[in-house]
Amino acid sequence: MRVAVLLLLGLLAAEGRRNRCFFNRAKEHCVCYNLSEETIGSIIQCLPANVVEFQGGDVEKYIAFPIRDLTPSIIETLDSLVIKKIIIGNVLVPEILLARVLRFFSYTHVQELAFESCVFQGTGDWSDMDGQSLPIVSLSFYNVTSAPLTGREQAFSSLSRWLETLQELAVTSSRVTSLPCAIGRLFRALLSLNLAQNSLSDGSLALAFCQGAFPRLQELILHHNNLSSYRSVCEGVGLLPELRHLDLSHNKLVADPSSSCQWPASLRRFNLSNAGLAEVPTPLPPGLEVLDMSHNQLRAVDTSLSSLKKLFLNQNLLQAIPSIRNYPVLDTLHLDNNSISELPREEVKLLGRLQDVAVADNPFSCSCSAARGLQVLAATGHLGQGWPGDYRCQSPAEYQGWQVAQVPVSVLRCHLGAVVAPLCVILALLGVAGAVCLVRTRPCRRA
Ligand SMILES: *[C@@H]1O[C@H](CO)[C@@H](O)[C@H](O)[C@H]1NC(C)=O
Ligand SMILES: *[C@@H]1O[C@H](CO)[C@@H](O)[C@H](O)[C@H]1NC(C)=O
Ligand SMILES: *[C@@H]1O[C@H](CO)[C@@H](O)[C@H](O)[C@H]1NC(C)=O
Ligand SMILES: *[C@@H]1O[C@H](CO)[C@@H](O)[C@H](O)[C@H]1NC(C)=O
Ligand SMILES: *[C@@H]1O[C@H](CO)[C@@H](O)[C@H](O)[C@H]1NC(C)=O
Repeated sequence: MRVAVLLLLGLLAAEGRRNRCFFNRAKEHCVCYNLSEETIGSIIQCLPANVVEFQGGDVEKYIAFPIRDLTPSIIETLDSLVIKKIIIGNVLVPEILLARVLRFFSYTHVQELAFESCVFQGTGDWSDMDGQSLPIVSLSFYNVTSAPLTGREQAFSSLSRWLETLQELAVTSSRVTSLPCAIGRLFRALLSLNLAQNSLSDGSLALAFCQGAFPRLQELILHHNNLSSYRSVCEGVGLLPELRHLDLSHNKLVADPSSSCQWPASLRRFNLSNAGLAEVPTPLPPGLEVLDMSHNQLRAVDTSLSSLKKLFLNQNLLQAIPSIRNYPVLDTLHLDNNSISELPREEVKLLGRLQDVAVADNPFSCSCSAARGLQVLAATGHLGQGWPGDYRCQSPAEYQGWQVAQVPVSVLRCHLGAVVAPLCVILALLGVAGAVCLVRTRPCRRA
């Protein structure tokens, strides 16, 4: 058992210091720091945990460790473990060792494997994994360094039996600049790929998402990369037939006005937040249900999307709200932090039918009808966080700095014109009647 666990996890030693595992029963989470051969026994207390985390240590010394085949009783023990997720952090991982121990995961029920701040050393011989499947469906790497993947496609094909069942892969904050086409073709069942905070540029996408790569991919996260051409991105992901969610936020995108690229028709959720956009890029994927274009420099939005349910436009330079009629099934609209001074009356009615509206931190004009429009909208209860404190008047001078909610908007004040005109008529008629009375004194008195 001792040896098996050691091999399995490729553990980890820090020159005979105090080493311990800490089990948090409530969270079913166990963390081991600087585990070494001498204190490997303390891992016993992690056995009831769902998540086991190894932080620190020096794995290198196990490179030459003799690795024998497992006995039936060890296999039985591995099979009885409840561990679902293993996190390995802050270690140097010789790839040779990883390649040798990975197949032992096939006896466990570990579904998630995560490496954080690790350095993978050298290149492994993965042939032990030929034809081997593993229960791991989610694999992630955060802030890791390894030898470049290019040129190692052949070696990784030994992992294909496993990789073709993997569902989630994340390689984040790891200075990735490209992904060889052949690698993507191994991931035949992958649903979600997160490549956030890397250095992918426009050209690398078409290469990574070549014909046959990631054929089932539904979610692609690319925020904080080095992407710049909206059209190149569109062309780069054009061969992903099942893509539903694309996150391009935190890139500096330039919208090419004459772009004619076709997005995958399956796209439903599109994140263009913080993408440096001065105008709405075209074309947008036609079947979108969620569109986030917050934190840009948009001055106007006049697209129309018939399936759109959620539209985020907060933190832009809009002076008017987009026409709600262009989005017949919209339920959420965020417009905080723009330059909107007034909500047109007919739009207020439509806005009132949405479930979640937010217009805080705009420079409102508090003319009577404008303030009243907002108050009516607030009364529907659908105005999100921020009401009343973050809805303030910018004009007229007498209400500047007031909360919109405090502006008096009685019918008499707002519709003075509407009320006064009939009043004048009535008074005038009375006046005429009075005059008539004075002239024809007798009939009047009789009446
Ligand atoms: C693990 O080792 C590192 C340095 O090697 C040390 O800074 C840290 O305190 C150790 N952690 C524990 C829990 O002993
Ligand atoms: C990234 O990993 C390196 C070790 O490879 C570590 O020194 C550094 O602190 C890590 N950075 C972050 C942000 O975790
Ligand atoms: C970003 O991409 C451009 C080309 O599109 C390239 O010249 C530049 O070096 C890249 N920057 C980084 C940090 O990768
Ligand atoms: C879009 O991305 C930003 C930043 O990466 C994030 O804060 C936001 O929640 C995302 N929007 C949606 C609708 O998921
Ligand atoms: C509006 O912008 C200000 C300053 O840029 C920021 O402090 C505030 O949090 C933003 N409000 C919203 C609702 O985004």
